[in-house]
Amino acid sequence: MKIAVIGTGYVGLVSGVCFSDFGHEVVCVDKDSRKIEMLEKGKVPIYEPGLDRLMERNVETGRLSFTIDLNAAIDGSEAVFIAVGTPTRRGDGHADLTYVMAAAEEIAKAAKDYVVIVTKSTVPVGTNRKVAEVVRAANPDLDFDVASNPEFLREGAAIDDFMKPDRVVVGVETDRAAAVMASIYRPLYLREFPIITTDLESAEMTKYAANAFLATKITFINEIAALCEKVGADVKQVARGMGLDNRIGNKFLHAGPGYGGSCFPKDTKALARTAQEYASPIQLVETVIKVNEEVKRRMVDKLLDLCDGSFNGKCVAVLGVTFKPNTDDMRDAPALTIVPALVGGGSTVRVCDPQGRREGEALLPSVSWEDDPYAAADGADLVVILTEWNEFRALDLSALAKRMRTPRLGDLRNVYTAEDAQKAGFQAYVSIGRA
Ligand code: UGA
Repeated sequence: MKIAVIGTGYVGLVSGVCFSDFGHEVVCVDKDSRKIEMLEKGKVPIYEPGLDRLMERNVETGRLSFTIDLNAAIDGSEAVFIAVGTPTRRGDGHADLTYVMAAAEEIAKAAKDYVVIVTKSTVPVGTNRKVAEVVRAANPDLDFDVASNPEFLREGAAIDDFMKPDRVVVGVETDRAAAVMASIYRPLYLREFPIITTDLESAEMTKYAANAFLATKITFINEIAALCEKVGADVKQVARGMGLDNRIGNKFLHAGPGYGGSCFPKDTKALARTAQEYASPIQLVETVIKVNEEVKRRMVDKLLDLCDGSFNGKCVAVLGVTFKPNTDDMRDAPALTIVPALVGGGSTVRVCDPQGRREGEALLPSVSWEDDPYAAADGADLVVILTEWNEFRALDLSALAKRMRTPRLGDLRNVYTAEDAQKAGFQAYVSIGRA
């Protein structure tokens, strides 16, 4: 089957590459000619483990190609996936659908035969019906269906998540569209991954509900962590004890400096906004959004305590600034709140992150960059672990402490313990949710 994918961002590129690996003929389209040139040269514009090799393999077979020519991509395609960005709209917190609707119109004008227009971008409930209206208006004679097919992959684990999903959700209105979607996902169906076929609104809602629930789960454990610190409990033990209850589950119960990334912050805001518009506010999600901001600020207070109440004149090494490991993505990363607070308080900040520098240099202008965590810690008064990259999970803490002026460790991902830090010669240590 020939498939076109519009948008070569995270979701579009991973989906396109994986669909081609399923055996389909896939053309990925983007307006950004520099990006397409890069992809044609076999270079992946994002950091995602394993994506380059999978891409190369499928380009070699001739199943996967890249173009800026939307018309050529759509010609003969039975399904066209819209995987363009839906950023938070300035002012009202809603998802900005400009790119989705522009893509829908272009597809409508380019398509000649029956096509299923599938929205993979995360879009608010009701968007697929609006896409259908836009297509109908732009090309009244076109035979088409719309489908909602939200994506649940995580950055850093994208290929595995796509190839071995917990579930695939497909929202359709007709049997014909359902059949096209079923043949696209046939390789997963054959391997017995659950494929849920439902209506458009339920599919759209599932994506937001899932992300908002996960953001709530993280925020819940972050609040429990704050209380654990006060009452003398250990949040890691508490999370383990809770997570072994199958009804709760042990995933997404790691307390930390607040959730970030391109999805949870944006999707929680968009869901809250939709709920308000329908006069059915989801107060829980509204609170999660607020609390997550407080969690990030609480981290600054924690570090300030560790530095005896002042950042002024201190030298701080920050290990990890991306919103999580195995990505170069800095969007809504807790580092964007914490690092400026350190700099604003008068400290000199050195950052070490295996992939964060490219994006981070513009976002964190007043810091210097080190490739090596030990070099970053040279003469420092504080080391902060902000992202749990594997590189920072097995540090030689004694060697680190020896290189510092004042050995203090702010372990905001609970990678080590107070005992580890004390044995290594740190004079002060804080972590999350442990007294
Ligand atoms: C998230 C969802 O997990 C995916 O299912 C979804 O497809 C994706 O959003 C999306 O909507 O596109 P992602 O943003 O890549 O994926 O990252 P996560 O691994 O979910 O982490 C999000 C944030 O939560 C990170 O800042 C991470 O550090 C934080 N987190 C996660 C915690 O603080 N504690 C945890 O236990 C888990």
